[in-house]
Amino acid sequence: MGQLGGMAKGKMPYEAKKAQGAATSLQATANLNTMGMWLPGSGNDKLGTKTRAKPEIWSTYPAVAEKSKALKMALVDLVKVAGTDLKGLQGAMGAVGKSCGSCHKAFRAKKQ
Ligand code: HEC
Repeated sequence: MGQLGGMAKGKMPYEAKKAQGAATSLQATANLNTMGMWLPGSGNDKLGTKTRAKPEIWSTYPAVAEKSKALKMALVDLVKVAGTDLKGLQGAMGAVGKSCGSCHKAFRAKKQ
């Protein structure tokens, strides 16, 4: 995400191969089944400052899964265009960034 964001914002030179590789890796990470890391009762209501995960992850389920799906869909588009050119990368990164932010806004507590 750091490389992709850097290139999209012009902070790093665009390199098609690097962009394609980073997009593919990010997609692979997002597609991992992480259900085992999201145990009910591991929200910040129980664990305090050890986590920023809000209890709403579980109490409003499957809303969080919808957010995860939105990210995966944005990444399908990103992988298609990341290695094409900078414009394609920039266009697709908007939706990816939004899907990260939308889930954090709903389910990640502010830094304490
Ligand atoms: C489905 C919901 C969801 C999506 C989508 C999501 N995140 Fe998160 N993210 C969380 C939650 C919840 C936490 C807080 C976890 C905790 O503190 O235990 C978090 C934490 C993080 C952290 C802090 C990790 C740490 O060690 O404190 C980073 C960095 C992060 N997310 C990056 C991203 C990026 C980049 C994306 C998009 C590519 C993304 N996230 C998409 C839910 C999501």
